[in-house]
Amino acid sequence: MWLPCGCTSKIIVTSYARRVFKSYFRWKCNVAALMPEAVGFEGVKDCSSLQEFSVSNSASFWAAAARHRLSWIKPFHTVQDCDLSLGRIKWFEGGQLNVSVNCLDRHVHTCPERVALIWERDEPGSEIKVTYRQLLEMTCRLGNLLRRHGVKKGDCVTIYMPPCPLAVASMLACARIGAAHNVVFAGFSAEALAERIRDAQSSTVITVNQGVRAGKVTELKRTVDAAVKDCPSVQQVLVAMRTENPVTMTAKDMDMEEEMLKEDVVCEPEAMDSEDVLFLLYTSGSTGKPKGVVHTQAGYLLYAALTHRYVFSYQDGDVFGCVADIGWITGHSYSVYGPLANGGTTVLFESTPIYPDPGRYWEMVQRLKINQFYGAPTAIRLLLKYGDQWVQKYDRSTLKTLGSVGEPINTEAWEWYHRVVGDGRCPVVDTWWQTETGGICITPRPSDPDAEIVPGMAMRPFFGIKPGKVVTSNPASGALCLAQPWPGMARTIHNNHQRFIETYCQPHPGYFFTGDGAYRSKEGYYQITGRLDDVINVSGHRIGTAEIEDVVNQCSAVAESAVIGYSHDIKGQGVYAFVVLKKDADDQEADLSQQLNNMVSKKIAKYACPDFIQFVQRLPKTRSGKIMRRVLRKVVERDLDGLGDLSTLDDPAAVQEIIQGHCELC
Ligand code: PRX
Repeated sequence: MWLPCGCTSKIIVTSYARRVFKSYFRWKCNVAALMPEAVGFEGVKDCSSLQEFSVSNSASFWAAAARHRLSWIKPFHTVQDCDLSLGRIKWFEGGQLNVSVNCLDRHVHTCPERVALIWERDEPGSEIKVTYRQLLEMTCRLGNLLRRHGVKKGDCVTIYMPPCPLAVASMLACARIGAAHNVVFAGFSAEALAERIRDAQSSTVITVNQGVRAGKVTELKRTVDAAVKDCPSVQQVLVAMRTENPVTMTAKDMDMEEEMLKEDVVCEPEAMDSEDVLFLLYTSGSTGKPKGVVHTQAGYLLYAALTHRYVFSYQDGDVFGCVADIGWITGHSYSVYGPLANGGTTVLFESTPIYPDPGRYWEMVQRLKINQFYGAPTAIRLLLKYGDQWVQKYDRSTLKTLGSVGEPINTEAWEWYHRVVGDGRCPVVDTWWQTETGGICITPRPSDPDAEIVPGMAMRPFFGIKPGKVVTSNPASGALCLAQPWPGMARTIHNNHQRFIETYCQPHPGYFFTGDGAYRSKEGYYQITGRLDDVINVSGHRIGTAEIEDVVNQCSAVAESAVIGYSHDIKGQGVYAFVVLKKDADDQEADLSQQLNNMVSKKIAKYACPDFIQFVQRLPKTRSGKIMRRVLRKVVERDLDGLGDLSTLDDPAAVQEIIQGHCELC
């Protein structure tokens, strides 16, 4: 939906940006080669007419894709039953399937020894390959183990693990026995983990003894111990051994690998209805409490598979390298479900872009012969600063497509990615999507392989995606809304359908509101301009400013606070906190800053810690007591001319104090 919203972001489209980049897709854009099930769709002759068909005949398009690409236990009778204004979203009703069978068994029948996972462990050169046969065996043993310990269809298992084959097997084992999973990013603190376990009401948690990242060991089991103390629902914790160091085991804990050995390698898959829950994944919104976004079985899997295949032009036999953590939606859809549904080989990356040196990604590309690389702009910006030599040292000739995800990619980073990493020959696909969308929604591909890609623009809607209401004139700026449902979209927020409706359906009735703003160029290309709400994006990690404020306000010396995002060279956005102390607070500001940082790290995660904390006498407020964040943002951006109308401020002197304090701090 294109609603004028006063979007002021600068749209920079350079002359370089206007150049046409040809891609080197193996398939020509003829429909039979591109999408066999589309042959016979009326009027469909090429990619762009297929896109039009997928939107105007959405039910026919998705029905054909679902029949062709998924293995069903029972066929569906109704393709879709959706009403966005009511928050009712149902796809493929009547159908039954099992997601783990779709990701494993059917490939084991045709190519059991094909590598499913390449576990790229922290130490370069120590990767471990897992075939489809082995992954199915792990999954079945684990499924049986969970069943034996009382986990049943409809339960929710929390997984707190770094990327590793047992984490993937845990997700798939849940899917096999009909339990939902709730993967919590292993960088989250004990309190954040506990909050998510409680909300999901998990009786079972799966973890590892320790994590290993950038040469450092993290005590993940200890974090789980601290979390489950406050989670009465938890009855058992399965502990896998990532390192050889023993950890203290409590009465609830069991050695996962030892127990798995006792189990059978065959595990009967549960027949799941299309709309049964596959997983919950907690993400941040504009209010304090994280929300458990719910995805269901068939629609999610189909959408992950189709986008993985087409956005990246994934071909059978390719090695797909998504470096996201499995604790985020990118890891779910493009390290696990999309590639495995397509019978692909997927990389699980345990390390960081600069360990042991800034050549890590490209050395890995050479060693594992990666064909598609999918990463975050924040890492690209960081690596760019280390110079081209770290890239050029390694052979990247296997690369065919480069993907970007999680935040806007600035033109400089885009050009470097394209010119240096991709040697000017690989298309760069900037992919826009969210935890809620389940998969990529706006991206340059699929399209005619000769179609232009403009740096820094997500470009075009994917099949079945219709951004916005019909607006006759371009260019336009506005709130990015999606005008019709697609199978991969979230169905609800766990235990809070009302919040789902209020957040996504009510702001623009009849449309799914994404929370982002977008610009559409005169050619009709999309560029994402950033969040319209109080959610910020720090190094590709989404966090609500209210979540950080909640923690800061818990400090006994703090009266109130306001947290905002500001533009940061590497992280995309940094965290800036304005803090008002209580009158009688006599702590030193330096000590308090440290204390507040420790609190945020302990209650949320390290990445949420403020980069700057400015202690102020008061916050700029309207007469009705609302904090004027706009003013705070302008001060931090040093755009004093853009402060705008201050006449509604209760006490205009507050702004002068804040400006002065900001100059002293930065
Ligand atoms: O603001 C958008 C930004 O990341 C948000 C979604 O965050 P999350 O649910 O954590 O999922 C991240 C991985 C899909 C969006 O609302 N975002 C994501 N991709 C892009 C982006 N902003 C600009 N360009 C993108 N390509």
